[in-house]
Amino acid sequence: MAYEHIQVDVEPPIATVTLNRPKVLNALSPELIGEVNQALRELDADDRVRAVVLTGGPKVFAAGADISDMAERTAVEQLHRDQTGRWAGIAAFTKPLIAAVNGYALGGGCELVLMCDMIIAGDSARFGQPEINLGIIPGAGGTQRWPRTAGKYAAMETVLTGAPITAARARELGIVNKVVPAEMTIEVAKRVARQLAQKAPLALRMAKEAVLKAFEAPLAEGLAAERKSFYFLFSTDDQKEGMRAFLEKRKAVFKGR
Ligand code: CAA
Repeated sequence: MAYEHIQVDVEPPIATVTLNRPKVLNALSPELIGEVNQALRELDADDRVRAVVLTGGPKVFAAGADISDMAERTAVEQLHRDQTGRWAGIAAFTKPLIAAVNGYALGGGCELVLMCDMIIAGDSARFGQPEINLGIIPGAGGTQRWPRTAGKYAAMETVLTGAPITAARARELGIVNKVVPAEMTIEVAKRVARQLAQKAPLALRMAKEAVLKAFEAPLAEGLAAERKSFYFLFSTDDQKEGMRAFLEKRKAVFKGR
């Protein structure tokens, strides 16, 4: 499918989704978010693709939801069009999603990053929730995912002050896996995606689901879900292949079956 606000490059076994509205620093219009949702739905169904990189390109990740689209909206309009509810499809992507972040990841841009499974940041990256300066609060998960990942006090500081933090600080807070020179960000994220693409796809899917469950469920429920997925994987060809390959001292070839 042809896209207007994003670019999708499929290089099996990985794909890259690039936000592409450079004139407005990749501001996340409803149309752009709709395209990201659509692309991820297609990539989820594409057996050639086993992991995806989400990036804004070399200069900026995204400066947040499109303010010109929201400025004069009423509450009732926002409720009916459910602006940020549409983002849920992105968080529902079942394959590993790696963010490659250069420059600003602000507001909805930062919230989009926090929906990803691993985060590679260029040393130029800046993360923040500046919504407070617009008289609103984060609306695409920021008040919930920040405390669950960085803890209450870092979350409060970020959400209440609106001040952005550096890539190095984000790394200290544990919301970034790796900080690299900005010109390397996308390549390193692709390298991580290619590594993950070698793993058993069904195990990757169950592993992602199980870790995300830890954010939603009480411990006993999370452990029960983990156990079920663990047992389920013994019904897959890939489990047999993985264990036999280990015993036969060869590299496993996983097929997602
Ligand atoms: N929406 C719409 N347009 C935006 C935008 C946004 N979020 N961010 C930047 N732009 C536009 C600017 O209006 C400007 O357009 P013009 O050239 O037509 O004037 C262009 O992008 C370049 O931006 P700047 O000139 O401001 O660039 P800068 O380098 O001086 O500053 C910046 C960069 C600090 C990121 C600044 O653009 C900024 O503060 N942007 C807004 C950040 C923000 O408040 N984000 C939160 C949005 S609300 C939200 O995301 C809600 C939610 O939870 C879903």
